[in-house]
This record gives sequence, structure tokens and C-alpha cells, in this order.
Amino acid sequence: MTAEIDKHRFPPFPCRMTLDLTGKVAVITGAGRGIGRAVALAFARAGADVACVSRTETNAKQIAEEVGVLGRKSQAYAVDVAKAAEVDAAAEKILADFGRVDVLVNNAGINRDGLLMRMSETDWEAVLTTNLGGAFHFTRALSRGMIRQRAGRIINITSIIGLIGNAGQANYAASKAGLIGFTKSVAREFASRGITCNAIAPGFIETDMTSAINTDLRQKLLEKIPLGRFGQPDDVARCALFLASPAADYITGQVLTVDGGMVM
Ligand code: NAI
Repeated sequence: MTAEIDKHRFPPFPCRMTLDLTGKVAVITGAGRGIGRAVALAFARAGADVACVSRTETNAKQIAEEVGVLGRKSQAYAVDVAKAAEVDAAAEKILADFGRVDVLVNNAGINRDGLLMRMSETDWEAVLTTNLGGAFHFTRALSRGMIRQRAGRIINITSIIGLIGNAGQANYAASKAGLIGFTKSVAREFASRGITCNAIAPGFIETDMTSAINTDLRQKLLEKIPLGRFGQPDDVARCALFLASPAADYITGQVLTVDGGMVM
């Protein structure tokens, strides 16, 4: 192949620019720790200003400070994503503080595991209203502005459990599978407005959420991961950064699995 043809087939590509979020404003729920914290830091390193949403004020403030140290504008918001009125009020405040929102990462989530026969209404509802309701509340509250600016990125953190199910996690699996249907519907509804909506399905990521899993089960799970290691919050954050960046301009309604090959 001549150099001329090669140049034609592979035109110079601005690789360094594609993961750049300079000038963008991102809202990240559950930013206080784990995956959300890693996403907030990755986005800030890529140049984004970050609105850090967490249930507790202390956690929200701590990550907002860390983002500030990276030289980006940041603000903490203590919000329970399960409560529509709290989310609406926070969204209004975020828009007043930052002027616009370009990227929304619906990451806040909980689990209340238990066998179905013994699962309480409270545990069912808490998981559904937080994991699924939270994404609905924040997407509804912030999409109007994205529609007006005819651009936006929505990234929902689902789970491989939403794809394959798991004994003892009916509530969690239902919420995460629901999030996938939600993602695809939002992607279709907002596509003509220049807004993309995608989901990330992490596998086993080492955070507070998975820290209680006992050694035996950890070993069994590890054997099911072809890449031979548990995931780290940064593994998910890099995927979120890709989906938020210009590199993912033509991707919507997709679920990207970040699980070391566990589900394929
Ligand atoms: P984590 O428990 O370390 O962090 C969850 C964050 O969400 C915390 O900051 C918490 O305060 C926040 N949060 C929970 N309920 C909230 C509410 N009602 N309002 C506002 N914030 C709330 O968990 P991790 O592992 O970082 O999980 C993040 C997301 O990733 C969750 O949606 C989880 O379901 C999902 N995920 C995690 C996996 C893992 O292996 N760790 C695997 C697959 C999905």
C-alpha cells in the first residue's frame, strides 16, 4: 500500500482531543465514593467542571474539594435521588451555579439483597426508587436544558446483574434491567435533539458495595473473570469518559459491559 493510499484510508485523527471535556459541565450522582468518585475525578482531569451529588453532605463536599484541587469548578449537593422534589430543587441550583449541564451520569445506587420469599416491600421499594427512580428524576430534571442547547450526554450505570439476573438480588436486577430499558427509550426519544443516552454495565468492581462479599464467594467470582482480576472504579470511569467525550458522538442506546469478560 502506498503512503498516499494509506493517508487516504486513515486520515490524521485528533486522538488527543477526543477524550477532552474542556468547557463541559458534568453532573454525577453518587459522586461521594466508589465508581462515582472515580468518574468525577476522571472528568475533572479531562477538563470538565463537576457538580457532585451525594446523599451525605460530607461525602459530596469531600469530592467537590478534590475536583477543586484539580483546578476545575466544583460544587457539592446533598440530595436523595429517590426524592423527586429534592432532585428538582438540586437541578435548579446546579443550573444556576454552572449555567448549563452537558453530561449527566446517573450512578447513585444501592443494594438490599435477600431471597425473594423473604424480601420486604421496603427493600424492594428502596432499591427501585433509588436505582431506577433516581435516574428518572435527574434525567427528567436536566433534559430540558439539554434539549434547549441541542446537545447532551446521559450515562446510566446499570450492572451485569441487570443482564443476567442473580439469586438473592431480584430487586437490584429488576432496577438495573429497568435502567437498560430506560436508557434505550431515552436514547430514542432524545436522539433528534442531539442528546445521546448510553449505559455502562460493570461486573465486579472493588468498592464499598462489594467489600462485604466473603472470601469464598470472591474466589468463585474471580474464577469467572477471564481477565483474571476484579475491576477498579477507574476501569468504569474510563468507559464513562469515553461515552461523555466526542469520541462517542455516534453511539447511543448502547450498554457497554465493563467486567473483564465475565458476561459475553
Ligand atoms: P458505593 O456504595 O461505593 O457508592 C454508591 C454511591 O451512591 C454512594 O456515594 C452513595 O452515597 C450514593 N447513593 C446511594 N443512594 C443514594 C441516594 N438515594 N441518593 C444519592 N446518592 C445515593 O457503590 P459503587 O460500587 O460505587 O456503585 C456505584 C454504581 O455502580 C451503583 O449504581 C451500583 O449499583 C453500580 N454497580 C456497582 C458494581 C460494583 O461491583 N461495585 C457492579 C455493577 C454496578
